[in-house]
Amino acid sequence: MPLDTLKRPLRDLRISVTDRCNFRCPYCMPAEVFGERYKFLSKAQMLSFEEITRLASVFVGLGVTKLRITGGEPLVRADLEKLIAMLAGIPGVEDMAMTTNGYILAGHAQPLKDAGLSRVTVSLDSLDEKIFGELNGLGHSVDRVLEGIQAANDAGLTPIKVNSVVVRGVNDHTVVDLARWCKERGYIARFIEFMDVGSLNGWDESQVVPAREILDRINEELPIEPATPNYTGEVAQRWRYTDGDGEMGVIASVTAPFCGDCTRARLSTDGKLYTCLFGTDGADLMGPMRDGATDTELTAIIDGVWNRREDRYSELRASLRRALSVTAKDSGPRKVEMYKIGG
Ligand code: GTP
Ligand code: 5AD
Ligand code: SF4
Ligand code: SF4
Repeated sequence: MPLDTLKRPLRDLRISVTDRCNFRCPYCMPAEVFGERYKFLSKAQMLSFEEITRLASVFVGLGVTKLRITGGEPLVRADLEKLIAMLAGIPGVEDMAMTTNGYILAGHAQPLKDAGLSRVTVSLDSLDEKIFGELNGLGHSVDRVLEGIQAANDAGLTPIKVNSVVVRGVNDHTVVDLARWCKERGYIARFIEFMDVGSLNGWDESQVVPAREILDRINEELPIEPATPNYTGEVAQRWRYTDGDGEMGVIASVTAPFCGDCTRARLSTDGKLYTCLFGTDGADLMGPMRDGATDTELTAIIDGVWNRREDRYSELRASLRRALSVTAKDSGPRKVEMYKIGG
């Protein structure tokens, strides 16, 4: 099993199944950029279900046990349940989760469960109708997302996690409401520090609300205490409510980076392998596969990429940002955009 230059194994594969989305969150796919004329990938440019499944099996052969389906919005890819069933059939896959915005989840929840999906994580930045409408860029109502979450819960796609990106001055005053809403229903709320992913979200450090501050706000109204991680390298820091009823978490990738234990690889819709959320370029797997590479050859390519991996962007953020801002001026390397690799 390969280890990277920092001795990290390859355990999780995050698969982006589409670059399209039915939301236009300003921090990910701003509507001004992703308008009607925007050219998304054509069908031929995307990995087919057979190709995704083949690559996933190769990754499993290299140590991956956990899959996460992402997008864009994964549920806008037609017949997604078919892919889920194909992936669920790979021996060695222990956990298969999906990250979705929940907007069309209600109609898919039971078929996804039947196909073999283990659980869903729903992105929901605020319960406040006005803030939510602004944050999804299209004025979509929060009700449909809440129905989607309910349907997922009824279908047993549990434990359900609700991810919320906290942006100062935008939704930071609604975190306690969301935490309480989740607690009352047995969902795990997780608050994510706003990150400088890609180059479209106009990130500024002053918009980051440190996890410590989020925890303090919640603790004032809903007392919490630290809980032990579920596994080494868990992205979220877990906290449990002291009344014994439920847990929540924070993802402090800006103030407390967790690169040291990062075992995640990301496969983009067009078949590139990224070894960091902040990568500037991915290793092409689609090309070799379509040119007839065998599984052994694909294994060797991935093994080589992982062996050379030295990513730890979040730990080196300040210096890497300086370096990137210099090269970006000469149209040098740019970070991959979130909608291509799904977070
Ligand atoms: P489980 O523990 O399996 O439920 O999933 P997870 O904690 O990996 O959670 P999820 O995939 O929902 O990730 C939540 C968010 O954390 C993502 O949307 C990203 O914003 C952030 N995140 C996930 N993985 C990484 C990572 O490797 N690096 C950084 N910097 N952020 C990450
Ligand atoms: N910082 C933190 N999280 C982000 N997400 C999207 N952009 C960012 C960002 N800049 C989250 C989404 C979703 C997941 C796919 O990534 O809200 O939960
Ligand atoms: Fe779509 Fe998720 Fe990006 Fe929002 S963050 S535009 S829901 S992919
Ligand atoms: Fe992993 Fe890159 Fe995130 Fe660090 S910044 S945890 S290396 S994906």
